[in-house]
Amino acid sequence: MKEKPPSYETEALRRFEEVLRGRRTIDQYLHTKVPERLVLEAIETAIWAPNHHVTEPWHFYLLGPKTIERCLDLNEQLVTAKRGPEVGAFKRRAWSEKPGWLVVTCRTSDDALRQQEDYGACCAAVQNFALYLWKAGVGTKWTTGDITRDARFAEILGIDFAEEFVVGLVWYGYPKLTPTQQRKGLDDVLDRLP
Ligand SMILES: Cc1cc2nc3c(=O)[nH]c(=O)nc-3n(C[C@H](O)[C@H](O)[C@H](O)COP(=O)(O)O)c2cc1C
Repeated sequence: MKEKPPSYETEALRRFEEVLRGRRTIDQYLHTKVPERLVLEAIETAIWAPNHHVTEPWHFYLLGPKTIERCLDLNEQLVTAKRGPEVGAFKRRAWSEKPGWLVVTCRTSDDALRQQEDYGACCAAVQNFALYLWKAGVGTKWTTGDITRDARFAEILGIDFAEEFVVGLVWYGYPKLTPTQQRKGLDDVLDRLP
């Protein structure tokens, strides 16, 4: 006789779904400070992401005001070179409004499969970080702009790109504005195979 699966229709599951579906990339933040303890908890939780061979390839850099200032300088320089001084100055103002700055890196590997799997694990960790904060009312934005691949960014972080690369610069803070998003339906993304 087949056993009936346990009921999954629980309030807890619906609330969990709300967190997963409701998380949005946040561009505009309030000035309210995010407690550092919460951010540290989010990082501690992030590293429970699945990770083939448990290589723990991630590293986290929590940036303070001096380092952020150097990032603002570098990004203004990069944007100015590409799109002119007005856009450079505009980006500087926009970026200086981001309350919290976290950089997540992944260890490099000579083994292409290991590298791919480690990157996957780091991405899962970033998502864990974002979801933990989202549940606490804090939004994030994951960015992979030009700055994250620039040698001068490595210098600012004190890292060696031969040993680790940037998975994302993740801003965090209490949302001022939460945008809406769309996703395709199940029929568009799912094929059932016999
Ligand atoms: C690996 C990765 C890199 C991203 N880089 C950028 C970026 O450089 N600039 C940006 O505006 N958004 C970036 N995003 C955020 C996406 O634009 C965002 O997730 C997408 O618009 C969907 O919005 P949602 O996160 O609210 O669902 C990135 C997301 C991921 C996963």
